[in-house]
Amino acid sequence: MRRNRALPTMAVTLLAGLVLAGCAGDAEPGATGAPEATSGESGTAGGSVEWRIALNQTADHPITVSVQGMADRVNELTEGRVDIEVFPNESLGAQAEALQLVADGTIELAIISGPQLENMNTDFLVFNLPLVFDDIDHQMSVVNDDEIVGDLYASLEDRNVSVLGAYTAGDRNIYTTDKPIVTPADTAGLKIRVQESETHLKMIELMGGSPTPMAFGEVYTALQSGVLDGAENNEVSYVSQRHVEVAPYFSYTRHLIVPDYLVASTSSLDELSAEDRAIFDEEFLASVEEQVALWATATDEAIAAMEEAGVEFSDVDTSLFADAIAPLVDSSLTSDNARAIYDATRAAAA
Ligand code: GCU
Repeated sequence: MRRNRALPTMAVTLLAGLVLAGCAGDAEPGATGAPEATSGESGTAGGSVEWRIALNQTADHPITVSVQGMADRVNELTEGRVDIEVFPNESLGAQAEALQLVADGTIELAIISGPQLENMNTDFLVFNLPLVFDDIDHQMSVVNDDEIVGDLYASLEDRNVSVLGAYTAGDRNIYTTDKPIVTPADTAGLKIRVQESETHLKMIELMGGSPTPMAFGEVYTALQSGVLDGAENNEVSYVSQRHVEVAPYFSYTRHLIVPDYLVASTSSLDELSAEDRAIFDEEFLASVEEQVALWATATDEAIAAMEEAGVEFSDVDTSLFADAIAPLVDSSLTSDNARAIYDATRAAAA
């Protein structure tokens, strides 16, 4: 989100998209302006690189803030050799597009939610399942543990996608436009937005609702216009995406805790010297720690904003939702790999 450096031609192309989308950092949630595919501004190994990171969150979201901090420190510590520019608000495209841009080497980095990676390798669905993580601490003790995730995260490298690790995206809850959800049966006949994932489609079906897969940035308008009756997310996104304005019934179903991954174009990573790569890896891990701390504060602030907005909260019996969707775990763990990752994850629970 810096605006003053000299721009290479490729960045001008990107910025044309941003101007159309309404300007990085200031754009409405969901504004898009995907760049045209151009070859990356690459340095030779050990030279200087200019990278872009795509996010679908607002500029003040904890992940964006942490990623910006990482970018600033990496820039300083590499003495400008690794220059990362942060593009929030889907300004380089929604997550599905951003992931494709990374795979193509058109952009270098993106923050991508679990369901999108499940679409590249179904073993990633393990971390998109209900009941897999007890809480955020458990999640964070697993998703950056090389012993558990090393092979999984390397599995996309033959498609030029390196998964470097994960941040938390908190726990997810259902919210609706017209009436509170108290039991799974209350979702009957309701169109509930899910991320683009088979697993999450089946999850809402198991509750009894009608799942509607959709990109993040489209949800506000769909709730507002009645295309959707509800959605599910954490408090922070519910407020930062302004869903709070159009879906005022928020039920603490706590049915999922899904990670957000940092993914990189493998060919871009290969351009870093060993020294710069070590700096990048270290500052990424520091940004994860920072994000987890920011997450707690951001959640409290979001809850205060929800109260202020007059949201009707429902403290539901979460076991009713967990029981309804529990069959998803066994029916989804169809590969030995996925089962082994699931078992290791459960073994790491406190
Ligand atoms: C959360 C998560 C995002 C994800 C979004 C969604 O906000 O952090 O990565 O894209 O949910 O529901 O699509």
